[in-house]
Amino acid sequence: MKKVLITGSLGQIGSELAERLRKDLGVDNVIASDIRKPENNKTVEGGIFETLDVTDYEAYLAIAKKYEVDTIVHLAALLSATAEARPAFAWGLNMGGLMNALEVAREMDALFFAPSSIAAFGPNSPADNTPQDTIMRPTTMYGVTKVAGELLEDYYHTKYGVDTRSVRFPGLISYKVEPGGGTTDYAVDIYYEALKNKSYKSFIDKGTYMDMMYMDDAIDAIVDLLNADPERLEHRNSFNITAMSFDPEEIAASIKKFIPDFEMGYEVDPVRQGIANSWPNSIDASCAKKEWDFNPKFDLDKMTEEMLKQLSKKFADEGIDTKVSF
Ligand code: SER
Repeated sequence: MKKVLITGSLGQIGSELAERLRKDLGVDNVIASDIRKPENNKTVEGGIFETLDVTDYEAYLAIAKKYEVDTIVHLAALLSATAEARPAFAWGLNMGGLMNALEVAREMDALFFAPSSIAAFGPNSPADNTPQDTIMRPTTMYGVTKVAGELLEDYYHTKYGVDTRSVRFPGLISYKVEPGGGTTDYAVDIYYEALKNKSYKSFIDKGTYMDMMYMDDAIDAIVDLLNADPERLEHRNSFNITAMSFDPEEIAASIKKFIPDFEMGYEVDPVRQGIANSWPNSIDASCAKKEWDFNPKFDLDKMTEEMLKQLSKKFADEGIDTKVSF
C-alpha cells in the first residue's frame, strides 16, 4: 500500500481514514474522493481531492490511472436506514459502485478494501457470538448488498486474483464526522445530546443489543488488514470484527458515570428497530484475531470518556453552548 484512492471519503469512515493515511503515507499518496466537494472541509483541503461518482466507471478508472494508485479503499455506499427508504437506488449505488471499484482494481492490479457489515447477517443467523461462517440471509436491502458484495469480492479474488480484503463492521462511533442513515447511529447521537441537553430519546429500544466499535479501532483494523500477510488470511470477504456489544440502557449507564443527571428516554422508530432486530446481538471476531491480530483497544467506558471529552472540545471550538463540559 503506497498510493491509495479512497471513495466516499467525506463520510464517517472516509474522513478519518484519509487523515490517517495522509499521515502514514504522505499527503501526495492519498487521493480522497467523494461525489460532492464542499468548501471549508478538512478532507477536501488537507490534500489531493477529486470529485467522483462511483457509478461512473470511466471516471473512476481515469482517476485511478491519473494517480497510478496501487490500493483502492471503496467506501461510497448508502447505510441501512437510508437504503431501506430507497431500496432500488441503494442496490444501484452499493452494487454498481462496488462492481466498478472491483473492475478498476482488476485493471490496475490494486490491493482492494471495501467494508461489509453486521447487517450481512439476518434473523436466522445465530444471534449470539455469531460465527464467522454461518447462515447469512439478511432481510434488509443494505444487508442484501453487503452479502452480495462479499461474494463479489471473493469472486474477483478467486477468478482474477484481485487482492480483496474486507471486514464486517459493527456500529462505528466517532466524534469528527457524524454518520448518516444508519441504525446504530443512536450510539453516536446520544453523546451529542448528553452534552447539549443532558438527555436523549433513543430510537432503538432498551434490550436491543448490537455490536459497536470506536472509530480509532476501526481505522486501525482497515490499515492492519491491508498490511496483513496474505499467506495468513484463510478468510477474506469478510472478517467479523467487534469491540463491544451493548443495548441503549448500558450506553446510558456508561454516560451516567460521567454525567450523573443524564436522563434516558425512548421514542422507538419501528423501521430502524426492525432492522436492529434482524441483526446479531454480538458477533465472534476470533478469526480476525487469529489471522491478522485484530485487537481493539476501546471498551464502552473508555470510549464514552473519549467521546465526551472530544465532543466537548469540538463544541467549545465551534462556540456551541453545552450543559456539561469536560
Ligand atoms: N452502522 C451501519 C448501519 O447502522 C451498520 O453497518 O447501517
